[in-house]
Amino acid sequence: MLLSITDLHIQFEAEGQVTRAVEGVSFSLDRGQVLGLVGESGCGKSATAMSIPRLLPSPPARVTQGRVYFDGQNLLDMPLTDLRKIRGQKIGVIFQDAMSSLSPLHRIGPQLEEVIRLHRPVSSAAARATALEWLGRVGIPDPAQRAKAYPHELSGGMQQRVMIAMGLLLEPDLIIADEPTTALDVTLQAQVLCLMRKLHRKNSGMLLITHDMGVVSQMATHIAVMYAGQIVEQAEAAAFFSKPLHPYSIALLEAMPSAATRGKRLKAIPGQVPSAGAFPAGCRFHDRCPVARPDCAQTPPALRPCGSRLVRCPYAAQ
Ligand SMILES: Nc1ncnc2c1ncn2[C@@H]1O[C@H](COP(=O)(O)OP(=O)(O)O)[C@@H](O)[C@H]1O
Ligand SMILES: [Mg+2]
Repeated sequence: MLLSITDLHIQFEAEGQVTRAVEGVSFSLDRGQVLGLVGESGCGKSATAMSIPRLLPSPPARVTQGRVYFDGQNLLDMPLTDLRKIRGQKIGVIFQDAMSSLSPLHRIGPQLEEVIRLHRPVSSAAARATALEWLGRVGIPDPAQRAKAYPHELSGGMQQRVMIAMGLLLEPDLIIADEPTTALDVTLQAQVLCLMRKLHRKNSGMLLITHDMGVVSQMATHIAVMYAGQIVEQAEAAAFFSKPLHPYSIALLEAMPSAATRGKRLKAIPGQVPSAGAFPAGCRFHDRCPVARPDCAQTPPALRPCGSRLVRCPYAAQ
């Protein structure tokens, strides 16, 4: 197994106040798979994903419990010097906001070259050649010329492509992509997704985080749905999209634009994701759930097997 996360708990502590943002998340990911981690904003997707390469700012974040095994090693108790070798080289991260992870002070070519030389014993000429090759591969026209540009001189779409090149150029075994296309307009979004699918190697695994079910339906082989800091459904993508089982999954899919709903009003999910620290008693989704029963407000449901998947609802049936 490439990545295996067990019983992960993450807290944020600020001004003496503790919020439990992620509680008891477990999943695994193998080579060749794309796991779509979905859910509305604030459900704990980014916290979960960023805890894998230990990129959460600490403080305020703290992983209080859990194991994160990557290629047989627990990343959570690994010395930072060893972890740094794994980051970038074996785990590539693509963030939502390209500008926040590109240095504004350096031209993009040299930034890519530096990443390569940090992890590989190659000459600067070889690093430059690889950097230019990747700029070309992510669809940046005239790479030799564009490599001389500073990030702010590029459009949002081009910046995002540079980020993708940065995340992929060391050909990592695991790619973590957190809302990689959210900042882009719809046409560019489709192009960038297509590109990521093309560049994703058969023997690597991808954790793709998004609140956009359309994006995930094009990319994922497996799905994990998060709600209020917990996983509420885990399934293979085909089964999930043909029949989601958890009421929250059903609501997410009904809110997804599709050919069938084009021109019609989409069904929004009523209410809001409760903030971490203010989760309702019982099932965390009960107050927004269209099929909630009286006991849903009392008993927190367990994540239980239902056919080949896991569902956190006692009433969901295949
Ligand atoms: N830097 C932070 N400081 C305090 N709380 C945070 C911070 N980042 C995230 N959180 C808390 O964790 C919850 C989950 O956040 P996040 O993982 O970013 O959600 P998602 O990626 O699903 O939108 C948030 O609702 C918030 O309460
Ligand atoms: Mg997020």
